[in-house]
Amino acid sequence: MACTFSERLAPCSFAAGPAMLPREVLAQIREDLPDWHGSGFSLLEQSFTGTAFKQLMADTEQDLRALLAIPHNYRVLFMQGGASAQFGLLPLNLLEPGQSADYLESGLWAHKAIGEARRHAPVNVVASGAAGGFTALPPVAGWRCNPYAGYCHITSNETGNGLQMPGFPELPVPLVADTTSDFLTRPIAVERFGLIYASAQKNLGVAGLCLVIVREDLLRPPRRGLPSAFSYQVQAMQQSRFNTPPTFALYVAGLMLRWIIRQGGLTLMAARAREKSRRLYECLDSHDFYRCPQVAADRSTINVCFQLENPGLLDDFFHQAARNGLHDLQGHSAVGGVRASLYNAVEMAAVERLVHFMNDFAHHHG
Ligand SMILES: Cc1ncc(COP(=O)(O)O)c(C=O)c1O
Repeated sequence: MACTFSERLAPCSFAAGPAMLPREVLAQIREDLPDWHGSGFSLLEQSFTGTAFKQLMADTEQDLRALLAIPHNYRVLFMQGGASAQFGLLPLNLLEPGQSADYLESGLWAHKAIGEARRHAPVNVVASGAAGGFTALPPVAGWRCNPYAGYCHITSNETGNGLQMPGFPELPVPLVADTTSDFLTRPIAVERFGLIYASAQKNLGVAGLCLVIVREDLLRPPRRGLPSAFSYQVQAMQQSRFNTPPTFALYVAGLMLRWIIRQGGLTLMAARAREKSRRLYECLDSHDFYRCPQVAADRSTINVCFQLENPGLLDDFFHQAARNGLHDLQGHSAVGGVRASLYNAVEMAAVERLVHFMNDFAHHHG
């Protein structure tokens, strides 16, 4: 197949994470790396207990609070271990011994969260999309909730299956959300949740930082066996400095937050995500060559997942895409096919290039 784009075009990554960073953010990192704020030291050499770094943490929290309109009775924690560590830490921090939690099994990541939670507490799966191959979200009306559960866990965006919750239910128990892959891509009413968590490496910078936003009344003394560094209450009491926080990831998160604010905030990020994904779904639906099995109402604006009707062409698809500067389009290993992740730093122009390439590939092979 002929290469339709110049090899000189800037390469674009559609990786599910770590994701691309905005060019301005990368330029700022390059500038700050050798000598941070004229201190004579790299930002990598800053003490986390020094005044300058404490200020960076305070500013980062303040920007996040402003962007998400986080109410005063919520604490922001900068933690490590990724969202995967939170899967186990949620029951250990939020439940009494023996108390159960509700979980929605909406896709691969919810399934993992359930597996980890079950190691520490009884879990009630309120509904599952597994029988349908995780191509639709189970309707809230059919959830079998336990009114005595310690919390109900949802996954706002299923990164591997390309499903995104368009809204969030009102429940009698605290709602806990893994928002890792759509955090800061749309406004979210924090006051509707007991706890929100997200790894940083998709829309908040680089790997190493996991953000937890938790309502104060859910904080409790660490239960037996829970390491203090992973206790929400201990970290809240010590402003996330019980131990060394991931300083570089925190610094990049600060840059990302300011970039999002400069761009116009979360309403603008959401509008861009809608437009980018609309272009891709429109292209997919116009060709029999591609198959996008997710029901339209639940399709993710962030991770667009699809198959080629002829899977034998996948290797060529990835190869040709890479030759056109369009990288990291492989689907999740458990799902296969193609996945284009449209995080905040992925520009509309890159999506247009991908659409152009996909039209061309379909015409050539269809
Ligand atoms: C929705 C969701 N939850 C959890 C994770 C796991 O995050 P981490 O690798 O930071 O543990 C991911 C990673 O892609 C994800 O997409």
